Amino acid sequence: MSGWDHRHVIDLSAFSTDDFTTVLELAQRFRNLPVTGTRKLPALQGRLMTTLFFEASTRTRSSFELAARRLSADVQSFAPGSSSLVKGESLLDTARTYVAMGANLLVVRHGCAGVPQILAEALDRSGDRVAVLNAGDGLHSHPSQGLLDLFTLARHFSPDAPSPEALRGRRVVIVGDVLHSRVARSNLWALTACGAEVVLCGPPTLLPDQFADFVAAPPPGQAVDPVPHRGPVRLVRSLEEALPGADAVMTLRLQKERMHQHLLTTLESYHRCYGLTHDRLALCGRPVPVLHPGPVNRGVELAGALLDDPACSLVEEQVRNCIPVRMALLYLLAAADG
Ligand code: CP
Repeated sequence: MSGWDHRHVIDLSAFSTDDFTTVLELAQRFRNLPVTGTRKLPALQGRLMTTLFFEASTRTRSSFELAARRLSADVQSFAPGSSSLVKGESLLDTARTYVAMGANLLVVRHGCAGVPQILAEALDRSGDRVAVLNAGDGLHSHPSQGLLDLFTLARHFSPDAPSPEALRGRRVVIVGDVLHSRVARSNLWALTACGAEVVLCGPPTLLPDQFADFVAAPPPGQAVDPVPHRGPVRLVRSLEEALPGADAVMTLRLQKERMHQHLLTTLESYHRCYGLTHDRLALCGRPVPVLHPGPVNRGVELAGALLDDPACSLVEEQVRNCIPVRMALLYLLAAADG
């Protein structure tokens, strides 16, 4: 795994193009292997992966657990509501408790941005040999989702050899609630690193103008960008302007649970302006794949008929790709730890 030097996976802004290549190549190998039942791979035998999820999840948590099992790791999961958090134990002491039980890999989801980073730094300072994987923190980052979206698109454009090169010069439209989306932020880092053009589309309340400069400066906490030349980012306000010439369209969930102000008039008016339908997709001028990280608000950001149409929708393929991509991340972090 040439050049891989990440001890934790917190944010894709820290990934070089070689890092993306490494993950995609390894995920493709895992995707092509029959690794179910008794034919598990022994790579993580003797390792323990613990999922610390402080927010709800279906796909991310289940697929990390399945990925770890397919690599022969032990798996332990934590349920905040029935844990000693309710007696006042701190988040860091909770993490340390699992590390003391032998966790080598902590997969962390939290509603506050920065929690996985804070845990990783605190555990590093105390000399614990444990890797932290961010499974989604507030509005900040969802790196494994960004990687599986990238893998899905790269396989769509280059099924036998998915690589960052498959995205070079492609135009990917990301439409919807960018403001509240950690998935959109991770995709911005991933897609621009691969040389794709990203067109962001949404109303000003859900897509502030500042997003046009999202990848312009060195990533937060880094002196230089590990990717010297990124693809461009453009911001438009209507799907009619965004879709012509697109190579792929990524729709985002309206994150009603994170909206504390009145950012929308009605869901119906949002769907009329920004909901993706077969008719709207035809504006691309050619057959184009549709992605959505899930869970979907059917009939709001994406018409049910389009979501269920296998000729256009890659949503189930994204879910299938959760497992090989997360296997790749677990494998790389365990290998980096020796
Ligand atoms: N896409 C995603 O993170 O889904 P879950 O919330 O179900 O994990």
